[in-house]
Amino acid sequence: MSKPLRIGMIGYGFMGRAHSNAYNRVANFFKLEHTPVLQAVCARDEEKAKAFAETWGYKSIETDWRKLIARDDIDAVDICTPNNLHKEIAIAAAQAGKMILCEKPLAMNVAEGEEMCAAVEKAGVANIVWYNYRRIPAVTFAKQLIDEGKLGRIFHYRANFLQDWTISADLPQGGQGLWRLDSAAAGSGVTGDLLAHCIDTALWLNGGISDVTAMTETFIKERKHTLTGKMEKVTIDDACSFLCHFQNGSLGLFESTRYARGHKALYTLEINGEFGSIKWDLHDLHRLQWFDYRDAGNLRGWSSIHVTDGDHPYMNKWWVPGLAIGYEHSFVHQVADFCESLSTGKPAGPTFRDSLETQKVCDAVLKSAAEHNWQKV
Ligand SMILES: NC(=O)c1ccc[n+]([C@@H]2O[C@H](COP(=O)([O-])OP(=O)(O)OC[C@H]3O[C@@H](n4cnc5c(N)ncnc54)[C@H](O)[C@@H]3O)[C@@H](O)[C@H]2O)c1
Repeated sequence: MSKPLRIGMIGYGFMGRAHSNAYNRVANFFKLEHTPVLQAVCARDEEKAKAFAETWGYKSIETDWRKLIARDDIDAVDICTPNNLHKEIAIAAAQAGKMILCEKPLAMNVAEGEEMCAAVEKAGVANIVWYNYRRIPAVTFAKQLIDEGKLGRIFHYRANFLQDWTISADLPQGGQGLWRLDSAAAGSGVTGDLLAHCIDTALWLNGGISDVTAMTETFIKERKHTLTGKMEKVTIDDACSFLCHFQNGSLGLFESTRYARGHKALYTLEINGEFGSIKWDLHDLHRLQWFDYRDAGNLRGWSSIHVTDGDHPYMNKWWVPGLAIGYEHSFVHQVADFCESLSTGKPAGPTFRDSLETQKVCDAVLKSAAEHNWQKV
């Protein structure tokens, strides 16, 4: 019999929609003991919260997240707010004994992340962070290939996350939608926003990072602040590149920017190993590029695997072989794995503790860029 997992979601922007869609879809495609119920959504504006609840099927609303956490009819709190609220909400939710699904990055910095880990571990509540790219089938498939040793020893890991939406100097910082440009709300710029995704995937696929050296740049030094109406200094990183050593001896090269004209959300990764290489590109997310040196010399070449077959990760839950799924399905997979973990008792990653590792790399990257040196993670 299905056990309800009563969700209380805080924040109803981009991720609020992505998560709500996932909660609504998951039980149609995955056989689960625990199934999400959209119990309540919390937003500060009552009318907007009501409209959101109606669109997505939430049973009730709250306008103060503390009231949502205090409710007896909520099992799990989903944190979809800007980064500066993750810690306070997560700690309060843990203290109230709620399970927590928290958006990434885990926190504004390592110190906050450590407090959050201590809180969920003390309370013994299930927890997960929404690094959803792990659950795009082609990326999950890459993990399988690496774990099976198909690439052999890994030499290089390369990842980019490129956007172009903040090039205009007229774009203000702060407030609804533009909090990503305000370090008081975001913690950092592309490092915590975009590179955090690349780092999470890298740690999962290729293991720990031991040290980093980075450079960051803020191209537009002052922007009008939406909340004060005044021109204020911009303190986020608009672009960040870093080199690193992985603990397995491979070398890493990461780049992210919001100033790569022509790119909207170009997340790419490439891994070069002893026997083969793989490449993946978010703009073509159902394909995994694959090169196997062990093929006969005259047949050797890059192949493009359409990751839509029944024996590819997650794909037997969807349509028939050959038919692709998209971005939103990575969130459905995350909900499915989280629900499954409640039945098996085996945590679904990345947990808060796993995501603290990503936070440590982000902090080391920012420190290295500020001090122009190498930093141990
Ligand atoms: N996993 C991913 O791929 C991904 C993608 C985008 C954003 N994110 C993360 O998700 C989080 C939210 O980002 P977003 O793009 O959805 O932002 P958004 O601006 O679209 O939505 C943020 C929401 O938080 C609400 N909010 C702010 N303060 C609040 C408060 N005190 N009480 C209740 N609600 C409050 C806002 O009203 C808004 O609804 C961030 O941590 C971000 O880094 C993750």
